[in-house]
Amino acid sequence: MSARRDLRRGSHPGHWPDWAWRGLCPWALLFLGLCCWRTRGMATPDQVNPLITMEQLLWRSGSVIGEVNTFRIPLIAATPWGTLLAFSEARKHSSWDVGAKFIALRRSQDKGATWSPTSFIVDDGALADGLNLGAVVVDSEKGLVFLVYTLCAHYNKCSTASVMIIRSYNDGVTWSVPRNLSEEVGTAMFAPGPGYGIQKHYEPNKGRLIVCGHGTIWRDGVSCLLSDDHGLTWRYGQQPLHGIPFGMEKLPNDFNPDECQPYELPDGSVVINTRNQNFYHCHCRILIYSYDGCETLSLDNVAFDTTLVDPAVAAGALFKSGLVFFSNPAHENQRVNLTLRWSFTNGSSWWKVPLQIWAGASGYSSMTALDGGAPEDAHSLFIIYEKGRVTSTESISVAKISINGEL
Ligand SMILES: *[C@@H]1O[C@H](CO)[C@@H](O)[C@H](O)[C@H]1NC(C)=O
Ligand SMILES: *[C@@H]1O[C@H](CO)[C@@H](O)[C@H](O)[C@H]1NC(C)=O
Ligand SMILES: *[C@@H]1O[C@H](CO)[C@@H](O)[C@H](O)[C@H]1NC(C)=O
Repeated sequence: MSARRDLRRGSHPGHWPDWAWRGLCPWALLFLGLCCWRTRGMATPDQVNPLITMEQLLWRSGSVIGEVNTFRIPLIAATPWGTLLAFSEARKHSSWDVGAKFIALRRSQDKGATWSPTSFIVDDGALADGLNLGAVVVDSEKGLVFLVYTLCAHYNKCSTASVMIIRSYNDGVTWSVPRNLSEEVGTAMFAPGPGYGIQKHYEPNKGRLIVCGHGTIWRDGVSCLLSDDHGLTWRYGQQPLHGIPFGMEKLPNDFNPDECQPYELPDGSVVINTRNQNFYHCHCRILIYSYDGCETLSLDNVAFDTTLVDPAVAAGALFKSGLVFFSNPAHENQRVNLTLRWSFTNGSSWWKVPLQIWAGASGYSSMTALDGGAPEDAHSLFIIYEKGRVTSTESISVAKISINGEL
């Protein structure tokens, strides 16, 4: 309630005489609420009542689409043209992380109502340790979409890992041939995301593209790929966050930060919401804060969020309309019960009642939101996630959420 008082007091004194408030009808108040939410990027608890307004199955495993055995690792992004792009690994012959794959893509140009047929935009052939997704990053200043993925992430019958990148300048319709980023950043294994990379909207390093990911036991922990020239050149930040003990096989409860999702707060800091692979300190998420555009990641800026109970999985995190959203299978050790939480306090606390997205088997998830001028865009977000009745690898589904609970 105090936030609501602040909204009124903070935004209008001096401009609005007292009688204006007393005379306003509820509709005008609602309008003011929406207008101020949009322009100030703030929302108050009475304006936030998330509701699933639509859900669609995008991919089904079991050799029913292009003879693909299993679809996993869903990613989703919104382009500056208002298009949604959904990606996944199409695992050709088995559900394993290794093996040959395609990258599958479906596009939606009507805010998630209909989706293009699946196109396979990358084919790794018959590699024993084929491609793994990955992170999608949108440069909204230049209208570019990048997709970063890894080859030979597991050193399974191969000895050199490569970080690969493809680019689209036409809203995801066509894609460049894969470029081997390892030629400039080296061949240390780097597994981006899975999720999205960010473009810094605020100083410091406004405009920078940031893709965070994790390494192997030899170069373990979390590091970020950075580009300050709209994706022409890339380099790693100067200081990664290592696991402990560094460069050694981990034991249960060792510090082993793994798959991760960054988001930017309006003060220009970046929070990297990270999988706690070996359950160090808790069965919950690791938060890594960066105040220099992910140039340095330091143990001094690591926290554990005990509200975000997690079975060690890739989770979704998104800053949208003044709120932080978080999605994961909210369970200490099972991938079930995909849950959406939201925060009015930049992620330092979470609203007491979450929204259950799917009670059954659920795995990796990722979120995005459109950033267009339509009022609907201000209060919509999209969650793509692994969903099943028995196991979470049965299908990939996308849910559209109305943040204010209106249809
Ligand atoms: C990518 O470049 C690295 C470094 O030059 C090389 O070792 C690796 O084989 C290349 N990968 C591919 C898939 O061409
Ligand atoms: C969240 O961060 C923004 C930007 O730093 C700040 O203006 C705002 O007061 C913060 N909100 C809360 C509730 O802490
Ligand atoms: C699933 O999440 C809801 C809250 O959304 C919670 O009440 C319930 O206990 C959870 N179920 C399991 C099996 O964890």
